[in-house]
Amino acid sequence: MTNSQRKPFVAGNWKMNGSNELVEAFCSKLLSNPAVDIVICPPAVYLSKFSQAEFTIGAQNASEFASGAHTGEISLGMFAEAGCKYVILGHSERREGHYESNEVVARKVKATIASGLTPILCVGEPLDVRESGGVFDFIKAQLDAVAHECGAGYIKNSVVAYEPIWAIGTGKTASPEQAQEVHAFIRKELAALDASAAANIRLLYGGSVNAANANQLFAKTDIDGGLIGGASLKIEDFTTICQAAS
Ligand code: PGA
Repeated sequence: MTNSQRKPFVAGNWKMNGSNELVEAFCSKLLSNPAVDIVICPPAVYLSKFSQAEFTIGAQNASEFASGAHTGEISLGMFAEAGCKYVILGHSERREGHYESNEVVARKVKATIASGLTPILCVGEPLDVRESGGVFDFIKAQLDAVAHECGAGYIKNSVVAYEPIWAIGTGKTASPEQAQEVHAFIRKELAALDASAAANIRLLYGGSVNAANANQLFAKTDIDGGLIGGASLKIEDFTTICQAAS
C-alpha cells in the first residue's frame, strides 16, 4: 500500500459457509485493527449476531427491488436495518451461477448507493479470456455498464474488487504483478471519469488470498486490500491477512 490516503480494506466473504459456532468464535476472538477497515460478509442469517458484536458487516448480494413478490430475495433496506454498511455485488458466483448480467449488476450498484450502503463491486475475467488476451476489454465492459447506469458518481461511493475467476477458490493466485497490472488498468479507467475519486477508491484483490501470499499482493501500489473467501473462515489466517494489509 503505497498511497497513504487510501485506508486499507479487507472484506471476508464467507459465501454459504459458517455456523453459529463459527460466528461465536469470530465474535470472541477476531480483534479489530484500527489501521484497516475490516468487513465480514457472512450468510444473511448470521448478520445480526455480528452486528451485536459491533463488527462492520456486509451482505453478499441484494435484490435490486425495494420490496414485493421476490421469494428468497432480501432488499437493501432490510440489509441496512440489519446493520450492513456494504454489499458485495457482481461476484462471479452470482454472475455465472445466477445469470447476473453486467446490466443487472449495474442496476444493483445504483440501488445500493441510493440506499446509503456501499457496493463492493466485483469484476474479473474467466480463464479463456485471460488466455486469449482479452482481460482489459472484458473488465472495461463490466465497468462501463456500471458507469452507464450510475454515472461517474458511483466511483466516490464504491469499493471495487478485481477477482480473476480462475483464481477464486482454486488455490491459484494471480501473481502480484498480474494483479497490479489489472488494478492499475481499473484505476486508469475510473480516472478517465473522475480523477480524484479514482485516486481515492479502494481497489481490492480477491482470488485465493491466504496468510502466506497477502503481504506480497498488498505491497503493490494499486492493491488496497483484499476480498477473502476461503481464508476468511479461519480466524488466525484472516487476522494475519488483515495485519498484512496494515
Ligand atoms: P477465495 O474466494 O479467497 O476462496 O478464492 C474469493 C472470493 O470469491 O471472493
